[in-house]
Amino acid sequence: MKSLEINGITGNSKILVGEKLQNLKKYIPADKFVIITDCNVNKLYRKDLPVCDIIEITTGEQIKNLDTVQSIYSKLMDVEADRSTFIIGIGGGIVCDITGFVASTYMRGVRFGFVSSTLLSQVDASVGGKNGVNFHGYKNIIGNFNQPEFVICDISLLNTLPQKEVLCGFGEIAKHAFLGDSSLCDFLEKNYQKAHALDEEVISRLVYDSVVIKSTIVNLDEKEKGERKKLNFGHTFGHAVEKTTGMLHGQAISVGMVVAAKLSHQKGLIPHQDVIRIEELLKNLRLPVTVMTNKNKMLDAIKKDKKRKGMDIDFVLLNGIGNAVIEKISIKELEAIIADM
Ligand SMILES: NC(=O)c1ccc[n+]([C@@H]2O[C@H](COP(=O)([O-])OP(=O)(O)OC[C@H]3O[C@@H](n4cnc5c(N)ncnc54)[C@H](O)[C@@H]3O)[C@@H](O)[C@H]2O)c1
Ligand SMILES: [Zn+2]
Repeated sequence: MKSLEINGITGNSKILVGEKLQNLKKYIPADKFVIITDCNVNKLYRKDLPVCDIIEITTGEQIKNLDTVQSIYSKLMDVEADRSTFIIGIGGGIVCDITGFVASTYMRGVRFGFVSSTLLSQVDASVGGKNGVNFHGYKNIIGNFNQPEFVICDISLLNTLPQKEVLCGFGEIAKHAFLGDSSLCDFLEKNYQKAHALDEEVISRLVYDSVVIKSTIVNLDEKEKGERKKLNFGHTFGHAVEKTTGMLHGQAISVGMVVAAKLSHQKGLIPHQDVIRIEELLKNLRLPVTVMTNKNKMLDAIKKDKKRKGMDIDFVLLNGIGNAVIEKISIKELEAIIADM
């Protein structure tokens, strides 16, 4: 097992890569605790959970809303959770995002931790202290920053994860490699087949290296004033592709990363070979690199991007593989890129 720390203004977080769900109890710093999980994870892993009250939610992005939050508050009151109760979210990004928000607001905030059970949440969603839910069609628009006290990334849980969800995790891992670590890119190029086979050693390294990149950036800029924006590499177009095609997030950002790489080349920041290299790696990871979509709808979705400031967007480009830079790009320029796509 390897561990890493995030030391934020909103708290400290210990990320434990390779720890087991079965050892969860030893990290819970309270006698009274409640678990929040989803029905899939509960069905598969109930036998491994410590004895306590379990609040089960259903699954899917559509339940990531304030109604679900309210129903959890009610259940916490039913089981007489108080300020000394510790809350543990066990699941993917949806469970972790909701749990973090509930724990941060119930009784003005109680202590909490996560066991992260999808590859995407191990490498991304459960790390960094962003909690929240969707509202009126906007993703993660209601929420807060608050670090979970611990995040257990149990690699063996990934053996039951549907393959399409594994591929989404590869999308975020590739993102971390492109934006911050060219040696991770080399490693992925050599080991993608073992990654597909969920080889424990390879996956552990991919999770650990991803968490190193994300936590280093979060430690520099917890509240996304500048540096943390780099983690949005591929996401401006990615989110628009996700919205307009219904593709899964990890697949959509793969397409978004290719667009961002091409734009980086057009701006003279990376050679054409780097664009090819990025496309090849994503293809080997079985992720899409192009998509058919309605251009007007794409532009509309980008205009609604909550990260937009006036007529400009903070766009993440690459100045070499492993070196992201942020540049303001006007909506007009994006319009031209979409027209060219
Ligand atoms: N807070 C952040 O910084 C951050 C970053 C990235 C993404 N997110 C959020 O994360 C969410 C997506 O997370 P996700 O991709 O983990 O999706 P998810 O939580 O919906 O999980 C995907 C599916 O896998 C199932 N599942 C979970 N663990 C399993 C296991 N071990 N075996 C079998 N099935 C399992 C779930 O029940 C679900 O059906 C989005 O809502 C996104 O906004 C948040
Ligand atoms: Zn993402």
